[in-house]
Amino acid sequence: MGARGLPPALPAAMPALLLLCLVVVPSALLPPAAEAARGHRDDGAPSGGTGGGCSNSTAPRLWVFGDSYADTGNLGDLGRELTHAWYDPYGDTFPGRPTGRFSDGRVLTDFIASAMGMPTPVAYKLRRGAGPGLLARGMNFAVGGAGVLDTGNFQRNISAQIDLFQAQRPAAGGGARGCDAGVALVVVSGNDYSYAADKDNGTSAAIAYIPTVVRQLMEQLRRLRDEAGMRRVVVTSLHPLGCTPLFTRALNYSGCDPLANAGAAQHNAALRSVLAGLDPANRTFLLLDLNAPFAALVEAPAAAPGRFAEPRRPCCETLDAGGYCGQQDDDGKRMYTLCDDPTKHFYWDDAHPTQAAWAAVAEAFRPKIREFLST
Ligand SMILES: *[C@@H]1O[C@H](CO)[C@@H](O)[C@H](O)[C@H]1NC(C)=O
Ligand SMILES: *[C@@H]1O[C@H](CO)[C@@H](O)[C@H](O)[C@H]1NC(C)=O
Ligand SMILES: *[C@@H]1O[C@H](CO)[C@@H](O)[C@H](O)[C@H]1NC(C)=O
Ligand SMILES: *[C@@H]1O[C@H](CO)[C@@H](O)[C@H](O)[C@H]1NC(C)=O
Ligand SMILES: *[C@@H]1O[C@H](CO)[C@@H](O)[C@H](O)[C@H]1NC(C)=O
Repeated sequence: MGARGLPPALPAAMPALLLLCLVVVPSALLPPAAEAARGHRDDGAPSGGTGGGCSNSTAPRLWVFGDSYADTGNLGDLGRELTHAWYDPYGDTFPGRPTGRFSDGRVLTDFIASAMGMPTPVAYKLRRGAGPGLLARGMNFAVGGAGVLDTGNFQRNISAQIDLFQAQRPAAGGGARGCDAGVALVVVSGNDYSYAADKDNGTSAAIAYIPTVVRQLMEQLRRLRDEAGMRRVVVTSLHPLGCTPLFTRALNYSGCDPLANAGAAQHNAALRSVLAGLDPANRTFLLLDLNAPFAALVEAPAAAPGRFAEPRRPCCETLDAGGYCGQQDDDGKRMYTLCDDPTKHFYWDDAHPTQAAWAAVAEAFRPKIREFLST
């Protein structure tokens, strides 16, 4: 495992020190040179940008901004060590091979699109292979490792992702006024906080960072409505970070870290009040509650595990706390164990849910999404 593979501030032995944890697998860390090379391939004039502007199309369009909980292939393949999601055993359940999704199968974006009755929008990085039909349905700009602010991973932050969306708009036209760009999904799962905890002193630094992150997130949400012309914006709440295996491993998966969960709750309260200020009538913004359905499924006591027999132990478990799912030694021998049945596990790897977990969470939010988008 390379020096950059795991943030040094995430020793499994001291989870209580960290308020909030890494949500994207450590593989999201990219060396600047690699990112620069990627940028060259990637950052030419956006092609196939037929759907970015104003249109009267009645087919729903979904534009996704965020991190690894939503990424469907934007991180790119820079080798097993840096980008695990492009290597086995990722993608085992769906579609049977790795696709850059941080799970054994489908991720949040897939389930949101399905709740909207539409296909998963194409990942920005894969847009050249997409037909015009799919390109007209929106695009996914989310990339594993991203944050609202920069996370030191050289990933596009949310604001840069929105810039990409804006760059796709037809040059002519009178901006967003009177224009319906469609639906935006904004998924922020905690990379800003793992970065802060990593850089400074764990808990205190991450707590102190909450107002900065939420204020910047507010600016980007405002942009999506006022500049990008999104008719509806769905923004996710933070899940109980202290229940991710990154924290629970040190507790033998017996329970969650209360401090990290309190931090997530504080972020969510701040976000709720920001949305109340931006949109008192709840016309444009929906705070999509991931925290409650996650909590209901992952905080289950060992004696009564509920829907998932293993609510906290990941299906893909590293031999070493500092390892990663998919890791191999020099002889190609697995440095992880894989469970027999991922549908029994809520977590796939140290930070990301299984497809079965996302499906269970989606059951909880599907009616809300449909109601919100139907008006
Ligand atoms: C949308 O519909 C309105 C009214 O029917 C029309 O004036 C406008 O030109 C249409 N815009 C586009 C981009 O088709
Ligand atoms: C987001 O990224 C862009 C491009 O790298 C950078 O200029 C900007 O300062 C970043 N925004 C924030 C809030 O960190
Ligand atoms: C970091 O935390 C330790 C103990 O928690 C404390 O002694 C130290 O002063 C802190 N350092 C900074 C820069 O806040
Ligand atoms: C961890 O939990 C398992 C059962 O879930 C138990 O068999 C094992 O002994 C525990 N290990 C420690 C170190 O407590
Ligand atoms: C808007 O949503 C919030 C949070 O769900 C709720 O507390 C508030 O009452 C809603 N406001 C209106 C005007 O419906």
